[in-house]
Amino acid sequence: MKRMAIILAAGQGKRMKSKLYKVLHPVCGKPMVRHVLEAVGQANCERAVVVVGHGAEAVQAELGDAAEYALQTEQLGTGHAVLQTKPLLGEADGVTIVVCGDTPLVTSSSLEALISLHQKEGAAATVMTAELADPFGYGRIVRGEDGSVLRIVEQKDCSAEEAAIREINTGTYCFDNRKLFAALGQVTNENTQGEYYLTDVIGILKGQGERIAAYKTDDPAEAIGVNDRVALAEAERLMRRRIALRHQTNGVTIIDPDHTYIGPDVQIGQDTVLHPGTILRGKTKIGVECVIGPNAELNDAEVGDGSTVRQSVVDQAQLGEGCQVGPFAYLRPGTRLLAKVKIGDFVEVKNSVIGIGSKVPHLSYIGDAEVGANVNIGCGAITANYDGYNKSKTVIGDNAFIGSNANLIAPVRVGEGAYVVAGSTITHDVAANDVAIARERQVNKPGYAEKLRIKARLKKEREESKS
Ligand code: UD1
Ligand code: CA
Repeated sequence: MKRMAIILAAGQGKRMKSKLYKVLHPVCGKPMVRHVLEAVGQANCERAVVVVGHGAEAVQAELGDAAEYALQTEQLGTGHAVLQTKPLLGEADGVTIVVCGDTPLVTSSSLEALISLHQKEGAAATVMTAELADPFGYGRIVRGEDGSVLRIVEQKDCSAEEAAIREINTGTYCFDNRKLFAALGQVTNENTQGEYYLTDVIGILKGQGERIAAYKTDDPAEAIGVNDRVALAEAERLMRRRIALRHQTNGVTIIDPDHTYIGPDVQIGQDTVLHPGTILRGKTKIGVECVIGPNAELNDAEVGDGSTVRQSVVDQAQLGEGCQVGPFAYLRPGTRLLAKVKIGDFVEVKNSVIGIGSKVPHLSYIGDAEVGANVNIGCGAITANYDGYNKSKTVIGDNAFIGSNANLIAPVRVGEGAYVVAGSTITHDVAANDVAIARERQVNKPGYAEKLRIKARLKKEREESKS
């Protein structure tokens, strides 16, 4: 049977007190509405229509071609929102899932279970419900004496007796598509908020003698509708825990899951250890048997098997197998470390390739460089790649040795096996196996230190007698 989905995302989200439209607020780095759209996609919905209104352009820019859109120009309620999809979906046969764009923790497996139950029960509508210790703010599920669902009552319309019900409407439903649109035509706005409630469709269908089913999720996280920043933080915490659990199950050690932040699309290999303060974002991919953190921030990074990244920032950079990075390194976009590279403390690398087994152990800046294999770059050596207008390239051949505090003024090449002597400022190419020395010769003045000290002391005494 054809499966469709409607995602409600037209509200402004006043309670967020934000310039950013509610459904675009990220949870674990991904906008809420995208989480929801991905869940319905994974539940094999052929079409997904997002109802947009407030921030319509921003929401469409975020989701692009991944969805179809229906515009709700005035936010007259969730029922009215669904009605806006009628021109797109009204004539279709099949089942339609309706989800709120502010319930980022809804899972595709629950959506699958919701649809299965709906079909098994031959229901006109199936509601996803949850039992909450504190149901305040949510619509309550009112059941009859036989346990069947009669209707949903919104918080603001609840009697005292209804307010005591702890089973709530998660805002996720499965409908027979034609029956949904037929019933929507009968929804009125006669309630405390003067809105057209989607929840009224349940009572209307029940009144017509239709079968209403309820799928109760045992994960209350799925119920979280993010209406304010408190709920946003709670959703973040629960999703963080869920993501950590997935990696733990796959064989990743997370020393302290409450202080480890893994984005939903991150991949991590078996026997990798994540220390506290590790933040893995975007499409970061980490191999097996790596050690990451403490305090490492990786964004769209690739880390080869058996590598270590401690106390460092890695942004859009690739590390081969067996690399060691940090503490306190900064790998910027376009950096590629081949296997067994060592990048040590206070080293920044930008848009450069560093060959197998090469080392940049301390206090260096390497930008726009091509460094061969087994190169040693001494403490404080840098590439001067920028003249204020142009970026220039530095090429260093295999087995070259760059002495401490050398300045390589790009464009420049240092050949294979060449030596650049410490403290040199290199402005011309160095041929393979040459030694380049570019610094003043040293002069020693025997015993002169005492003379210097006397001179300095006298100067100080003169200054003091003046004042
Ligand atoms: C809704 C449900 C409530 C349920 C809760 C679950 C109704 C009437 N109430 O309440 O039973 O417990 O979700 O989280 O449905 N939206 C539109 N257009 C509108 C109004 C809302 O697109 O005119 C969108 C919002 O952007 C939001 C979603 O619908 O993503 C839900 O709206 P919201 O105002 O948050 O509903 P709740 O009061 O939370
Ligand atoms: Ca809500």
